[in-house]
Amino acid sequence: MKLSLAALLSTTAIATAAARAHVSRCTQNDTLGLLSLHEGLVSIPSLTGNESAVTTYLASYLSSHNFTVELQQVADGRNNIYAYTGSSRDARALLTSHMDTVGPYIPYGITANGTITGRGSNDAKGSIAAQVVALQQLLADGSVDDGDVAMLFVVGEEVDGAGMKAANDLGLSWEAVVFGEPTELKLAVGHKGALAVKLEAFGKAAHSGYPQLGVDANKALVTALYGLDGVELPGSALLGNSTLNYGLVRGGAAANVVSPYANASIAVRLAVDAETIKGQLDGYFGGVSGVSWSYLGFFYDPVVLDSDVEGFEKAVMSYGTDIPHLKGDHKKYLYGPGSITTAHSDHEFVMVSDLEEAVEGYKKLVLHALN
Ligand SMILES: *[C@@H]1O[C@H](CO)[C@@H](O)[C@H](O)[C@H]1NC(C)=O
Ligand SMILES: *[C@@H]1O[C@H](CO)[C@@H](O)[C@H](O)[C@H]1NC(C)=O
Ligand SMILES: *[C@@H]1O[C@H](CO)[C@@H](O)[C@H](O)[C@H]1NC(C)=O
Ligand SMILES: *[C@@H]1O[C@H](CO)[C@@H](O)[C@H](O)[C@H]1NC(C)=O
Ligand SMILES: *[C@@H]1O[C@H](CO)[C@@H](O)[C@H](O)[C@H]1NC(C)=O
Ligand SMILES: *[C@@H]1O[C@H](CO)[C@@H](O)[C@H](O)[C@H]1NC(C)=O
Ligand SMILES: [Zn+2]
Repeated sequence: MKLSLAALLSTTAIATAAARAHVSRCTQNDTLGLLSLHEGLVSIPSLTGNESAVTTYLASYLSSHNFTVELQQVADGRNNIYAYTGSSRDARALLTSHMDTVGPYIPYGITANGTITGRGSNDAKGSIAAQVVALQQLLADGSVDDGDVAMLFVVGEEVDGAGMKAANDLGLSWEAVVFGEPTELKLAVGHKGALAVKLEAFGKAAHSGYPQLGVDANKALVTALYGLDGVELPGSALLGNSTLNYGLVRGGAAANVVSPYANASIAVRLAVDAETIKGQLDGYFGGVSGVSWSYLGFFYDPVVLDSDVEGFEKAVMSYGTDIPHLKGDHKKYLYGPGSITTAHSDHEFVMVSDLEEAVEGYKKLVLHALN
């Protein structure tokens, strides 16, 4: 049953409490069930590293709705949730997303036009709520059965993927995995990889009236960056151009001092593999004087996704996900409500209608994967 938003909001206080107690194996009040689960998730802060309260909430929600719930310890006080029906730990398809969020915490809010605000409202608690309700509906109408679909909700996606990396130790594999992240309800065809580069220039301080007595680190760095801007990085037909962002540039001591030191941190979004781009950057920096370069721990290759499903708009995503961390030759789908353009921002939001549509989208993807 779909409720009008006006009806929903006029009964919010009662409805939310009622929906919390309501079993969603029953197909009535699905919007209420969806919104109340989503509200419950968003209302609990779950900054990466501090996910235990939201994990407890979601695990108890799932077990009280008759899912079998396993907690997998990732670190002290940090657990992934693996949930399925009956005793069928093995499943053909997996719905997965992440429970942690970036900071700062922003409380849950809902406005009369159906805008839900709050940290994690789209990234990625909107995906979690829609995935749970999608599976409940598929079970309720008999489209899927024990052993068809399981769910995995992980910690640590926003920092180092610790939760998804640990999931490799579950000893399980699936034919298809549907990853929930904000894609504006588009089915992602792939996402770019990432590489972080640090540049440093060491000079020698001197009075600016006598620059010949010093070595200007700022000039060396700026010259290197200027040249770098002319380097054509390879792109791909699927993912478009590889791009560079000169995110941090620091240097110098004062206007009237020849700069003794400067550095820059650069993020590269990769349309081709990291080794290729590294080789190209090594070639460029190797020919530039006065600057040293290093690659930071954070990098991953681009990901090509499965998108062979009718009825979805397709798009390339330019952000990273947990997808590369889960080993196996499963099909990979990436889809979810909300936009990455407001995720991580102080105005993160998701629309009620997007959550509802995401439930339909996840159902369609699961059924496609199973058929
Ligand atoms: C929710 O569904 C129940 C029946 O399961 C119904 O009695 C109740 O009125 C519904 N609540 C709302 C707010 O529509
Ligand atoms: C950890 O999360 C809990 C529950 O969400 C919250 O109350 C607490 O303030 C958080 N602690 C830190 C250090 O952020
Ligand atoms: C859980 O399963 C029991 C036993 O099969 C059933 O009576 C109950 O209605 C189910 N509850 C939900 C929330 O589906
Ligand atoms: C919904 O309302 C809020 C304020 O109540 C406003 O900021 C926002 O722009 C509106 N969104 C839409 C899609 O109308
Ligand atoms: C990719 O780079 C080329 C050359 O710089 C430019 O013409 C093109 O617009 C870029 N494509 C996109 C999608 O930004
Ligand atoms: C860059 O230089 C600034 C100023 O000297 C320093 O505070 C900062 O730690 C340096 N950053 C890196 C990544 O080394
Ligand atoms: Zn996310």
